[in-house]
Parts: sequence; structure tokens; C-alpha cells
Amino acid sequence: MIRLQNIEKVYRTDTVETLAVKGVNLDIAKGEFLSIMGPSGCGKSTLLNIMGLLDDPSKGSITINNQDTKNLSDQQLAKFRNQHIGFIFQSYHLINDLQVLDNVALPLLYRSSTEKERRILAAVALEKVGLSNRLKHFPTQLSGGQRQRVAIARAIVGSPQIILADEPTGNLDSAMGNEIMEILINLNKHRDTTIVMVTHDENMAQKTHRLIRLFDGSQVL
Ligand SMILES: Nc1ncnc2c1ncn2[C@@H]1O[C@H](COP(=O)(O)OP(=O)(O)OP(=O)(O)O)[C@@H](O)[C@H]1O
Ligand SMILES: [Mg+2]
Repeated sequence: MIRLQNIEKVYRTDTVETLAVKGVNLDIAKGEFLSIMGPSGCGKSTLLNIMGLLDDPSKGSITINNQDTKNLSDQQLAKFRNQHIGFIFQSYHLINDLQVLDNVALPLLYRSSTEKERRILAAVALEKVGLSNRLKHFPTQLSGGQRQRVAIARAIVGSPQIILADEPTGNLDSAMGNEIMEILINLNKHRDTTIVMVTHDENMAQKTHRLIRLFDGSQVL
């Protein structure tokens, strides 16, 4: 489903060069649930962003669903992402002047559904994460854990084949973290959704099919 070949990412500023990811090769099968662990700064978010086509690698190729993504234009990339990938960001990325329901409905805008249908699907996704009572709130009126759950609802609303999650339980207490994990496990089991999750939590990682570790930008396991 996802194939990364020789991925390398260098960040350059005037004074420093950071090799954030180096020589990563990874094959992720359809329906697989993979977790990625490693110390802060080892390149987990960078790798996930590259996998999610949000950031270009400096070297290497990314094939998703048999599509080589190299020669896609920005517009084609945006469309491809929207159709195939749900992304849960480490820092939520919610739109603060949209209500919760509209934040979640946003990825559906590019599909041929009516506003009513979009809002129903968004409400269903929000119910799954236990936020039915917050539809009209704005993100700034929510706790960190609630924002995290809105971000999860937004990622699952379009039933994408792939979910990429950057520490989806990082800001939650363990009970809520377990609930979110259950949601992801269910999507993986019942919809065959391919999931890649970055986590600092060994317990969460143990619940997935496969764990890889990064250290200084390279895969060590
Ligand atoms: N835009 C950027 N410009 C320059 N360096 C960057 C940029 N983004 C990330 N880096 C560097 O790349 C490295 C990897 O960062 P990344 O965010 O991928 O780490 P991470 O493993 O996700 O860490 P954390 O667990 O703290 O989220 C870090 O050393 C970071 O300083
Ligand atoms: Mg990170």
C-alpha cells in the first residue's frame, strides 16, 4: 500500500544542515497497522509527513496504492491525498474560526456530496470519538484532548484507505488514549484501513501489527 525507497530528508538553513531522515526503506501492506517509535527529534514526524505527501523528500521515492507520486502536480497531490489519506497531526491543525462540525466536514468538501450529507457524516465521525455534545463549539473552546479527538474525527470522516497518525494519543489521559486506540484498531480490522502511527507509548505500540524504531533519522529495527 505504501512503499518508501531510500528516503532522505535534509533541512537546510543559511547556517545549519539537518539530516532529519536518512536511507529509510519501508513496505507497508494493505490492512497493516504499523507503529513508529523513537526519541524526540529522530525524524518521526518528518517521515510521516513525507509518507502523507505533505512534504517532499530530498531523495527517494514514495509509491502509494501503486501510484508513483513523483510526477504529480501540487493539485494532483492534493486530490490524491484527499482521496486516500486521513492525517492526524501532532498539533491538531484545526481551523479556529470554524465550528467543530464544520472542521470535521472539511475533507468532504471536495467530494460530490451535499452539505447535508457532509454534516451527517461529520456528526457520525464525531459521535465515534465521543464529541456529539460539542458540535457547535469552536476549537479554542475545547480542551487539548477534545481537539485531538476532533482531529481524529476529521481524519476518519471520509473513510480513507490510509490513516497516518502523529501521536494521536499523546495529549490524552490513558482512558481516553485507550478509547482512541480502540477506534483505530476497529477501523483497521473492519474497514481494512492501513494505519501508520507515531507514538511514544510502548503499550499503544504493542497493540499494532508491527513496530519500527527510528534513531537519528535511520531505521534501527
Ligand atoms: N522545518 C524544519 N527546518 C529545519 N529542521 C527541521 C525542520 N523540521 C524538523 N527539523 C529537524 O528535523 C529533525 C526531526 O524532526 P521531527 O519533527 O521529524 O522529529 P520527531 O521524531 O517527530 O520528534 P518529536 O517526538 O519531538 O515529535 C529534528 O532534529 C528537527 O530539529
Ligand atoms: Mg514529531
